Amino acid sequence: MSIEKMLKDYSDKVNTKLQQLLPKSDAFGISDIAEAMRYSILSGGKRIRPALTMEFCSVCGERPEKALLLACAIEMIHTYSLIHDDLPCMDDDNMRRGKPSCHIEYGEATALLAGDGLLTLSFETAALSSLQPDAIVRAISILSGFAGYKGMIGGQMIDLKSEGKDIDINTLNDMILGKTCALFRACAALGCIAGSADATQCQAADDYAKYLGLTFQIVDDILDVTGDPDKLGKNTGKDAQQEKSNYVTVYGIDKARKIAEQYNFKAKEALKIFDGDTSKLLDLADYLLKRSM
Ligand code: IPE
Ligand code: IPE
Ligand code: MG
Ligand code: MG
Ligand code: MG
Repeated sequence: MSIEKMLKDYSDKVNTKLQQLLPKSDAFGISDIAEAMRYSILSGGKRIRPALTMEFCSVCGERPEKALLLACAIEMIHTYSLIHDDLPCMDDDNMRRGKPSCHIEYGEATALLAGDGLLTLSFETAALSSLQPDAIVRAISILSGFAGYKGMIGGQMIDLKSEGKDIDINTLNDMILGKTCALFRACAALGCIAGSADATQCQAADDYAKYLGLTFQIVDDILDVTGDPDKLGKNTGKDAQQEKSNYVTVYGIDKARKIAEQYNFKAKEALKIFDGDTSKLLDLADYLLKRSM
């Protein structure tokens, strides 16, 4: 199966489930926020993170659908992070997933609340998983840890504070490990929980996800310089405009790509301990290294 087909299959399942999980209420007061939440989460996106969760569940020997609600929960957190990331007080981006950003379409206050709505719906969704209660508690604890101040939020803070500064490599890595890798690691961990992975498998999945996230963000930074906005569905040249510090500004494009290749190699190495079929995870790593969207 091609990697595109795999992503499409998982996307279809996730999109169908998200349609059911997202609020439809036209009750007074919340119709705007329901619409804004649906607008942002159902308007495309590569769905890399839910695919990662479902595929790890599969590699561990369980049906990927067992991880579907956890996968949807992660996509909700990811989409919330994009809505907030685009706000004028953060990256001030007016285009996302090929459409006007949430705050352009609905206004800043509604976009802020739509992000909050997705974040909280994520935990409600994860709690409804048909896993053993102790597995659900573990999943929610891991997800909230990685999404929070020690993970994604912390990385976003470093990103904002690093604008216009020369940062060292440790700060650069802390930023990416937080803003991007933390959620990738949550994807792997939740897939492993749904798949009843053992400790060795969990550690290997975590290593893969960390290196995949590093590769992914370096490529994102490169595409901000070299990419096509129509393909990416977002503006390019924004990082330079906002004087962001990232792998491209610290190393230049060629060296940044070389480092991304090294992380891609490490990600694939980590999968060697699995007995199950890791071919799709290997392909996913290469796909994310070579992507143009
Ligand atoms: C964008 O993530 C945010 C980053 C961490 C760079 P994606 O490129 O996965 O965004 P979507 O989900 O496909 O829109
Ligand atoms: C976003 O990183 C990371 C999160 C939303 C947590 P970027 O700011 O580089 O993502 P894009 O380029 O806007 O998609
Ligand atoms: Mg940002
Ligand atoms: Mg941004
Ligand atoms: Mg970017």
